[in-house]
Amino acid sequence: MTARNALVTGGTGGIGTAIVEKLASLGHRVATNYRDEAKAKAWQAKMKDKGFDVAIVHGDVSDFESAAALVKGAEAAIGPIDILVNNAGITRDGTFHKMSPKQWHDVIATNLDSCFNVTRQVIDGMRERKWGRIIQISSINGQKGQYGQANYAAAKAGMHGFTISLAQENAKFGITVNTVSPGYIGTDMVMAVPEEVRAKITAQIPTGRLGRPDEIAYAVAFFLPDEAAWITGANLSANGGHYMGW
Ligand code: CAA
Repeated sequence: MTARNALVTGGTGGIGTAIVEKLASLGHRVATNYRDEAKAKAWQAKMKDKGFDVAIVHGDVSDFESAAALVKGAEAAIGPIDILVNNAGITRDGTFHKMSPKQWHDVIATNLDSCFNVTRQVIDGMRERKWGRIIQISSINGQKGQYGQANYAAAKAGMHGFTISLAQENAKFGITVNTVSPGYIGTDMVMAVPEEVRAKITAQIPTGRLGRPDEIAYAVAFFLPDEAAWITGANLSANGGHYMGW
């Protein structure tokens, strides 16, 4: 596969780290953003020990100006962005009748506004170069909804609406835009769900287990090669059979 320049937002997180490792192991140059410098530097050193040279740039994807600066920094480090994985995301779970405006806005800003803020910085370059891959990391809960996640499910469903519109606008420019919708993966985010609630959720997964981050990275990699040029506007579920909508 041709070596490309890839930006993975939220690359230091559970799923993000696996995506970064997968892209780097495929020979791509990879950058990610961070907000906590000490944590990011330690993460970068760990990546180096594993043989992956990953560029890290400061920036908050929920803010347009900060996103512009982080993309500039990433491009200075690895070159024009060919592959963008909008992966950064947070949860602020709570039943809707108790949800605060802050819980709502923080999740919409980080999970959905971020797609606009970051993608807007790279789209012109991809269109000029006539090649691009844009992948949203959404969620099973954007597809089926989830008790306690009106904010998160709204943002994650919105991400796929974003995908299918961008896919139409950019198909003629060699750019594919797709969504990966992970189910419950054994990351810190899912482990933060109270154990008894998590046990009930896991019991609903036909494979009988949580997913692994590398199983999501594999789904992301599927969209990258030139052979995948015909696949655009898709929503690829990777959820152990937990939700089989079609
Ligand atoms: N269906 C029906 N009823 C449910 C329910 C469900 N799925 N979940 C909880 N309830 C019920 C409880 O049984 C309880 O009922 P009673 O009052 O009759 O006993 C009631 O709801 C509790 O409601 P509260 O508003 O008091 O809830 P709470 O404040 O204790 O917490 C919650 C609610 C925060 C939503 C908690 O249940 C929770 O954390 N749920 C998990 C949410 C979740 O799946 N988050 C995913 C995080 S990981 C992620 O997002 C990654 C990804 O993409 C998959």
